[in-house]
Amino acid sequence: MRALTVQPGVSGSARLEQVAEPALTDGALLVQAIAVGICGTDVDIVRGEYGWAPDGRQRLILGHESIGRVLEAPPDSGFAPGDLVVGIVRRPDPLPCAYCAQGEWDMCRNGAYTERGIKSLDGYASERFRLEPAYAVRVENALGTLGVLLEPTSVVAKAWEHAERIGQRSDAWRPRSVLITGAGPIGLLAALLGRLRGLDVHVFDRVTRGPKPMLVAELGATYHAATLPSVERLAPDMIFECTGAPAVVADVLTRSAPSGIVCLAGVSSGGRTVPLDLGDLNRRMVLENDVVFGSVNANRRHYEQAAGALARADHAWLGRLITRQVPLDRWADAFERHEDDVKVVLRMEEA
Ligand code: BGC
Repeated sequence: MRALTVQPGVSGSARLEQVAEPALTDGALLVQAIAVGICGTDVDIVRGEYGWAPDGRQRLILGHESIGRVLEAPPDSGFAPGDLVVGIVRRPDPLPCAYCAQGEWDMCRNGAYTERGIKSLDGYASERFRLEPAYAVRVENALGTLGVLLEPTSVVAKAWEHAERIGQRSDAWRPRSVLITGAGPIGLLAALLGRLRGLDVHVFDRVTRGPKPMLVAELGATYHAATLPSVERLAPDMIFECTGAPAVVADVLTRSAPSGIVCLAGVSSGGRTVPLDLGDLNRRMVLENDVVFGSVNANRRHYEQAAGALARADHAWLGRLITRQVPLDRWADAFERHEDDVKVVLRMEEA
């Protein structure tokens, strides 16, 4: 079968190649891949800046945002041929740490977790892959290819859950408004979850044209182009920072409202410095009870929350998030940035 593979650490090493059928040790479910989403992490891996091959191997099968159709499932697995499934990305560390031991591998304490398509485990960008039933999440058939949005939505569902748990430190917490920086797939899905909660949602992005302003408006949220809105006036209860751009990160850190909660969800590459008065930031955070926290990955609970959200979302809107579908044999096109891209997916099946 064909698979998109890469030698982690080596820029330009990605290629489509023939690989062996997936091993039974990968899990009892045999899945026909339908589509694989491409995100910033995949771009970093292809550039040689991130990623780890499985032990004893040089190459890794890419892909962690999946949607596939079950081909084979043991009778007692809870799955049946024809089911649409998404593979969970992370596997717990082998020790396991206290978090991984309770299925909260997204909070792994020792960094020894593994991730399909990213860290020491083959990913889902192969025509067929295998999954352990415990790491497969069923999505409703009506979602079809849109199920490929489940993994990024799970990451956002976790960020929302944690922000809300932090908010509940005060019995008086009644969130009304949220600011999201960055209208990429993560920012837009964060906005969707905010609207599903009935909140006043504001999205900031530097672009003034293309599909993003309309996607935000269609959600019933407010789009702020080019300049960050007056955070003081907006006084958002929560800020989700989804750009990872140091200047934007510095802005949201210093401009959150009193008792504000800032979730950092965008991964920066590092190496760029911006001026920051840390003493002033500390003073403000202490005197205002501000919280800043990071959020990555998702556990099974978050995938289920995400599946519920996608089922309730307008499927036509979700479809517009996927701005390009690239056939597997033209995979390199999926890694080229087009101006109007929001989410680009690789089509794993012949049309
Ligand atoms: C994935 C996460 C993963 C993270 C770090 C993200 O792109 O969505 O599941 O934990 O990269 O490897």
